[in-house]
Amino acid sequence: MKDTTLFSPFKLKHVELKNRIGVAPMTRMSSQHDSIPRKDVLDFLVRRAQNGAALIYTEAIVTDYESAQGYPNQSRLTTKRQIEAWQPIVKSIQKQGAKIICQLFHCGRMAWPEVNPANRSIAPSAITPKQMNPLTGSPYPVPDVMSQFDIDHVINGFVETSKGVIAAGFDGVEIHCAHGYLISQFLSSYSNNRTDGYGGSVKNRYRFAHEVIQAVRQVIPEDRLLIARISNWGIADMDVFLFEKKEDYQEVIRLFSDEPIDAISVSTYDYKEKAFGTDKNMAQLTREMTTLPIMICGKIYDRKSADDALKDADIILSAKSMLLNPNWVQDLRDDKPVSLYKSEDANVAYTDQVLL
Ligand SMILES: Cc1cc2nc3c(=O)[nH]c(=O)nc-3n(C[C@H](O)[C@H](O)[C@H](O)COP(=O)(O)O)c2cc1C
Repeated sequence: MKDTTLFSPFKLKHVELKNRIGVAPMTRMSSQHDSIPRKDVLDFLVRRAQNGAALIYTEAIVTDYESAQGYPNQSRLTTKRQIEAWQPIVKSIQKQGAKIICQLFHCGRMAWPEVNPANRSIAPSAITPKQMNPLTGSPYPVPDVMSQFDIDHVINGFVETSKGVIAAGFDGVEIHCAHGYLISQFLSSYSNNRTDGYGGSVKNRYRFAHEVIQAVRQVIPEDRLLIARISNWGIADMDVFLFEKKEDYQEVIRLFSDEPIDAISVSTYDYKEKAFGTDKNMAQLTREMTTLPIMICGKIYDRKSADDALKDADIILSAKSMLLNPNWVQDLRDDKPVSLYKSEDANVAYTDQVLL
């Protein structure tokens, strides 16, 4: 029988992962010059590879110079200097026998326009989140409704950044369709009330994600991976589920399955939590609709939770345990008793403190 346990290898398309454990994407807001992350933030990723993770995700990389950036000091990957900054990091990670995926992101209405060069916020519809921007204490600005020009411009940003990712030697690209950011805003009727071909039915709300995926795949060589990340929760208005019902979520997973993508990463706040009033968790509901490999994260913190989460997925990711415990993979191997980190513990990620 095939070994599917935590430390067994997994083949993601043609890419061999040495185990089923990965570092979830984590924004660090550390770029001071040229949208290049601080050196210790880049080194942190290499160290996680040295310490045994098979798969490393970058922070969310901003896809254009107009409206994509949602937080101060985020990173980009289109210029020669940016590509040259990532190249040795990518190489060092691969030398450790790990793979590295770059996550691409547009914030949409979750914008802090002051940090965007063009001081502009765009979204599918002119609807703001209910809650204030936690970083500024002010309401989010009412976004401009995206025109066809804006849609094309944003897609081009994903494509141009993907070219940078490939030039830097990454093993693949992840398109951030989760957490209430731009693509997720199109997918969710909570933020999308368009009446054109990008709004209304699930299929129409999915159209923008489809166009981004199709355009990006054109510039990703066959030997690299393309992954989509999805969630039912957003960074703002966390009390709101992004999909009204199970059928809407599962329809999106079915549509993903028809795309030229290699895996779906499901982000949850708690992998165990039953979703949409069913007795199934998000990974199980995803599995019902796809044969694509599934990654899962959310409160996976010790060997027991990792083994348990892996029953319904192929790869487990952790953000907070990977962030705060450099020896986490070894601790899993040793089945060491470790505790669950709180969200506030992770705020250190956004400070100048060097994390080993
Ligand atoms: C400091 C920090 C930064 C994060 N930045 C991102 C990000 O850039 N992109 C993303 O998709 N998720 C991001 N997340 C969410 C995580 O990837 C993950 O989905 C979430 O923390 C739940 O996993 P955990 O319980 O293992 O922390 C971030 C989480 C933390 C703690």
